[in-house]
Amino acid sequence: MCRLMLLCFSSAALVACGGDASLPPCDSQIYCTGPILHQVQTAKLFDDDKYFVDMKLKAAPDVVLSAFQNLSNEMPNVTLPPAKLQEFLDVNFEKPGSEFEPWTPPDWHDKPKFLEGIADQNLRDWAEKIHKLWKSLGRKIRAGVKDHPELYSQIYLPNPFVVPGGRFREIYYWDSYWIINGLLLSEMTDTAHGMIQNFLYLVNRYGFIPNGGRVYYERRSQPPFLTLMVESYYQASKDKDFLREALPTLEREYGFWMENRSVAVTVDGAQHVLNRYHVEVGLPRPESYTDDLELAEGLSEARKEQLWMDLRAGAESGWDFSSRWYIDGDGHNNGTLKETRTSQILPTDLNALLCLNEKTLASFHRVLGDGDSAAAYDRAAARRQEAVEAVLWDEERGAWFDYNLLTHSKHFEFYQSNLAPLWAQCYSRPEMGEKAVQYLKTSGALQFPNGVPTSLRESGQQWDYPNAWPPLQHVLISGLSNLPSEDARQLAFDLAQRWIKTNWLAYTKYDAMFEKYDVNGDGKPGGGGEYEVQLGFGWTNGVALQLLDQYGASLTSGSQQVSSGVALPLVISVSLMLQ
Ligand SMILES: *[C@@H]1O[C@H](CO)[C@@H](O)[C@H](O)[C@H]1NC(C)=O
Ligand SMILES: *[C@@H]1O[C@H](CO)[C@@H](O)[C@H](O)[C@H]1NC(C)=O
Ligand SMILES: *[C@@H]1O[C@H](CO)[C@@H](O)[C@H](O)[C@H]1NC(C)=O
Ligand SMILES: *[C@@H]1O[C@H](CO)[C@@H](O)[C@H](O)[C@H]1NC(C)=O
Repeated sequence: MCRLMLLCFSSAALVACGGDASLPPCDSQIYCTGPILHQVQTAKLFDDDKYFVDMKLKAAPDVVLSAFQNLSNEMPNVTLPPAKLQEFLDVNFEKPGSEFEPWTPPDWHDKPKFLEGIADQNLRDWAEKIHKLWKSLGRKIRAGVKDHPELYSQIYLPNPFVVPGGRFREIYYWDSYWIINGLLLSEMTDTAHGMIQNFLYLVNRYGFIPNGGRVYYERRSQPPFLTLMVESYYQASKDKDFLREALPTLEREYGFWMENRSVAVTVDGAQHVLNRYHVEVGLPRPESYTDDLELAEGLSEARKEQLWMDLRAGAESGWDFSSRWYIDGDGHNNGTLKETRTSQILPTDLNALLCLNEKTLASFHRVLGDGDSAAAYDRAAARRQEAVEAVLWDEERGAWFDYNLLTHSKHFEFYQSNLAPLWAQCYSRPEMGEKAVQYLKTSGALQFPNGVPTSLRESGQQWDYPNAWPPLQHVLISGLSNLPSEDARQLAFDLAQRWIKTNWLAYTKYDAMFEKYDVNGDGKPGGGGEYEVQLGFGWTNGVALQLLDQYGASLTSGSQQVSSGVALPLVISVSLMLQ
């Protein structure tokens, strides 16, 4: 399965390996490439580049392309003025959002059981409100999208789903893992089932799961959580028939990661296969077009292409963007966004996640009575565990670190992902777990009252200090709570308490749940990066409900009084989330 990669690796031509970087982001000459995209985005008619590529066409793509050609012929060799472009859009496009119809999940009901386990009355009332938010985040794609997919950037999906919220109007891949876990607690089994079916449908259509439900996400994925979604659903339903039906598709997705996202690396004379994020599309992202163009200004064509591929790989990692992916000219984990080299890094969290996928696939085969296939996945997990230990584990520091393929060395900065193998239980010796807890305690990352920051570097990017993200809190807390020591489990509870307090304080101030929070803010939303902080918010709600379920008997809302009449320094209006 990795023969091709081995060849490429030994010939040191890793970047160009096995592919054609000139692939467009998708086949649409309106949403992914071409003069309309270029002119509309560079004219900056909208605050967010995602706005234009989410608009619906009023006529067939050929007709709209021809109309634009005619308009350009009237004014040859000039960029059309903004007013002309706006007029063109008014005639040929509809506002984003027209692909959905109102939909309230029919399996939503009052008072799911888990609420009863929450002792603190404030927290219980709040959990009920979070539970209610699923109703405003439900979306159903209109039949028109199925009949005329060419008029939409929206990818048709057979079942309704829950979206993250804000600018994220469509389904997202890794977000949905925490959303589904929340839905299962909310006893919305049918909605969860439908979302998983959508992802299975996407694997069958594309061979993998795109980042989100838009054509401009068609050539990149996101952290592979589908197998864990199925595991969550199976634990809630014990539905073996569903498992039997889903399993071949889960294996197909696993095959994509092993075939298209793996590299062989030799450490201490032994060869190991590990995975990375890697997208062979060397053009600006349509939904962040001008950011990508501006960032690449002044670079050679080859460097531009490489940067755009690595930005896409950064988006595929879910950590878009982060100092974690920087490699400067000296090969150090240092620099700026322009030095993003995601594809040249073997990430700890991706490999931990694939290790957990391998173990989970083995367990599915075992449940279904196929011992041979179970044994094959057990062997894959054992090989992965060995590779993670040989390449990513650092005995002296007592944690796992991303591996730099250019310098053949590890990156020793603190990132929350350095603890991911704890969560996946992807290590052989129990003392490695205890060492990792010591590493965390001395890292400096536990000193903040409002959660664990993504990193300790203030780069201005979203996936760095001072932002704390719900999925990362959940992965860390579950990792610690898996450990046998009382000390680690107490720490897990303390972190859950801090996180719940942060979410709760923000909710009391703003009446909203946010995609991320500031570790210093006592309920302040996070910031930085390419867009304003978004509210809604799928994974935040899912993680809060999970922690409230797991620790509901002991969590408290605290005695902190929130002053009334606080000013709301929010740029986004709540109505955005209802679009
Ligand atoms: C563009 O111009 C051609 C030639 O005049 C015409 O046949 C065609 O209908 C025009 N297209 C649109 C969409 O207006
Ligand atoms: C537009 O540019 C092309 C190529 O640069 C040139 O051949 C053509 O004459 C120009 N047209 C006008 C009207 O200036
Ligand atoms: C994966 O890589 C193979 C070549 O090794 C290629 O044929 C295939 O199209 C790739 N799959 C996807 C989904 O990109
Ligand atoms: C990163 O680069 C800056 C500026 O060149 C330099 O001062 C700093 O020492 C570098 N840090 C590391 C860890 O290499």
